[in-house]
Amino acid sequence: MPVAEAKGLKKYYNGVKAVDGLDLVIEEGEIYGLLGPNGAGKTTTILILLGLTEPTAGEVRVLGHNPAREPLKVKRLTGYLPENLGFYDDLSARENLLYTAHLNRIPEREAKKRVDEVLEMVGLADVASRRVGAFSRGMKQRLGIADVLLKEPRFVILDEPTSGIDPEGAKQILDMIVRLRDERGMTILLSSHLLHQVQQICDRMGIIHQGKLVAQGTLGELGAVVESGEVFFEVRASRVDDALIDALRGIEGVTVAEREGDLIRVKATSDVRSQIARAVIQCGADLLELKGHTYTLEEIYLRYFQG
Ligand SMILES: Nc1ncnc2c1ncn2[C@@H]1O[C@H](COP(=O)(O)OP(=O)(O)OP(=O)(O)O)[C@@H](O)[C@H]1O
Ligand SMILES: [Mg+2]
Repeated sequence: MPVAEAKGLKKYYNGVKAVDGLDLVIEEGEIYGLLGPNGAGKTTTILILLGLTEPTAGEVRVLGHNPAREPLKVKRLTGYLPENLGFYDDLSARENLLYTAHLNRIPEREAKKRVDEVLEMVGLADVASRRVGAFSRGMKQRLGIADVLLKEPRFVILDEPTSGIDPEGAKQILDMIVRLRDERGMTILLSSHLLHQVQQICDRMGIIHQGKLVAQGTLGELGAVVESGEVFFEVRASRVDDALIDALRGIEGVTVAEREGDLIRVKATSDVRSQIARAVIQCGADLLELKGHTYTLEEIYLRYFQG
């Protein structure tokens, strides 16, 4: 059974289609990235999954429950890091977490133990007694994750966990998310518009645009869809001259062959690797490298939004 599932999900706000017929499946133990530009419907989708807002239409199940009908059951099993966190600035990190534990009815002795454990996990044990008002944005975000972990959720939803955080701080947070999956077996849904960051850690991704999921899959699967009809290759040869470029352009199916530094980029309508290899040798050069181009999520994303 998937951890979360949505079918034909819609949410309209006075005519604004925030979510517009979205299908989504999140499997146990995966890191799923919900990716899309500002206003795409990421936060609205998350709020529906949590039972914090009701869908206009469609079906949702989270850990076997309908969040609209059983929001408390979903809330108990799910940890949620909102876009904008609220902590008490005048309380210390430890005091803030103890307060959350109290709200979650975790008994005091157990709470103290868990608070120390999660502070350790997110790397804030050393500053646990410092007031949160003096924390940097990255530290607050890590405290937010500690807060989410207190109730030991099975399913963790993080809305833009790295937005506004410098690269080093973002890396710490991403590493932490991977550890939640690997060491605690948690299922994680994160939303982001920072593609290069999340593509490193997501098992699967969904690209959301104007309230619709336009693509879903692994990075490889998303790349393969984009690729349909066009294949790219990178060629490195010991010597690159005009004759070689012409020979490559002469191969049937090749639409583009261009020099880029010591590299040749070839675009074709089919897999022409053996013809490329032959052309390089026939031009008297050695073939040093020949590989298919793998897409970055950035490229995939741009192609979806352009086409
Ligand atoms: N409470 C609301 N009332 C009216 N319109 C809303 C409300 N919440 C969201 N919307 C609209 O729904 C659309 C989707 O918003 P949403 O916050 O889900 O996007 P998002 O993908 O999370 O964007 P961002 O990257 O900026 O956080 C937007 O057009 C937004 O203006
Ligand atoms: Mg949002």
